[in-house]
Amino acid sequence: MNRISIKLTAYFFIAVLIMETSLILYLHQNIIHTRVDEEFSRLLATGSNHRDVLSENYSDTTMKHIVLMEKDEEREVLITNNQGEIIRSSEENIETLKRDLPQVNDLDLQIDQILVSDWKRSSYIVSAHPYKVNPSQSGYVIMFQSTHPIEQLVGKLNLHFGLAGVTSVVALLIIYAVLSKFLTRPLIRMKKATEKLSKGNFKVSLPFIGSDELGELSTSIQKLADDLERLKTERNEFLASVAHELSTPLTYLIGYSKVAIRQGVSEQERQHYLVIIAEESDRMKELVKNLLDLAKMDENTFTVSKEYFEARPFFEDIFKLVEPSFKLKKLKLDLICDMDFKIHADPLRLEQIVLNLLDNALKYSLEQSTVKMKVSKKGKKSVISVVDVGIGIPLEEIDFIFEKLYRVEKSRSRTSGGSGIGLAIVKELVEAHDGSIDVISNLGEGSTFTIII
Ligand SMILES: Nc1ncnc2c1ncn2[C@@H]1O[C@H](COP(=O)(O)OP(=O)(O)OP(=O)(O)O)[C@@H](O)[C@H]1O
Ligand SMILES: [Mg+2]
Repeated sequence: MNRISIKLTAYFFIAVLIMETSLILYLHQNIIHTRVDEEFSRLLATGSNHRDVLSENYSDTTMKHIVLMEKDEEREVLITNNQGEIIRSSEENIETLKRDLPQVNDLDLQIDQILVSDWKRSSYIVSAHPYKVNPSQSGYVIMFQSTHPIEQLVGKLNLHFGLAGVTSVVALLIIYAVLSKFLTRPLIRMKKATEKLSKGNFKVSLPFIGSDELGELSTSIQKLADDLERLKTERNEFLASVAHELSTPLTYLIGYSKVAIRQGVSEQERQHYLVIIAEESDRMKELVKNLLDLAKMDENTFTVSKEYFEARPFFEDIFKLVEPSFKLKKLKLDLICDMDFKIHADPLRLEQIVLNLLDNALKYSLEQSTVKMKVSKKGKKSVISVVDVGIGIPLEEIDFIFEKLYRVEKSRSRTSGGSGIGLAIVKELVEAHDGSIDVISNLGEGSTFTIII
């Protein structure tokens, strides 16, 4: 047996045992008291009845009758005179009665009274009933009630309550043992699962055990395990992609530098190779920088400091920055921006977001098309859309473009120089602003990226 089920059983058992014992004791005492009280009242009633009859018809015959009436096993009667002498008795062997009788001579009672009430120690409970016909004809009718029936009752009660107690204790033990096992089994499973997780093995399968607290805990552990497993796979894939991304420019660098240092290469050729080397190095630097940015975002070590600033000048500045590259590709750039409104965001981060989206629009647009940037206010939020009439994104790929190092067509991006990190950064930045990003795209028709920030 494991420890928690022992503990549970012990606690429940002790608590119920205490309750049950108190209840049994209370009932036991109550039943006995009621029964003893009944005996007392009956004895007093019979005694006073005899006394009344005797007072009204004081004669030897009356006494005989009284004695005759009580000649059964359980009850006895004694009648005394004014000297305290016993003048009649239902029991021949008076000594047996006298043992339980206090000194009759010393009695000085005006009303009926219980003389001996200790039913546990005496064989009789005794009541005295004074009678007085005239000063010379007075004395007591003394009643004796055997305590045997009470003792019999106590014996029976003890037996029944004892049996009930033992049976319920056994039943309780069985119920608690089963219950605690039933409760602890899922706990043990979860403990094993978490041990597995802590050892780095995330392949855990916990059965569904309902929607109570234990069930919720089990579901959470299962979800945690699944998430960890997914993260592990993602991390491995990501590392493989990074290695791949870095190895491509490295291959160029190594290849071209070897060619460049070879003897007999013309100055012009060497120049050409050095340009390629410089370009590839730049690309590598950019990639590493982006990766570092992403790593920082993942660790939440970067901060977003929001402020209010005019929208239009902000976007015009960005446009000035990107215009030369757009002109180079004969692309038109349009800014549609409401006048006089302020954006609440981190300007540096927002610039990074917009530059990334414009960079994509530039890369994936067809020549001589127009890229539109629409900025407007919606409630307290700002809506920023970048619309291009470019190559578009296939429907089945849209869900993945925000993943790190994901490119729609690996070959298509390489020609345009992308590494698939831009949108991952954009997404992290937008979410850090508590904003959202959406994309609508049709293959061959163009794409619209919309940010609400
Ligand atoms: N405006 C767009 N039109 C068509 N395809 C797009 C557009 N924007 C993004 N994509 C697709 O989504 C992929 C992911 O975009 P992302 O910006 O993350 O990477 P990238 O532009 O290839 O490289 P990087 O931005 O890191 O230089 C791109 O490779 C491209 O296939
Ligand atoms: Mg990009």
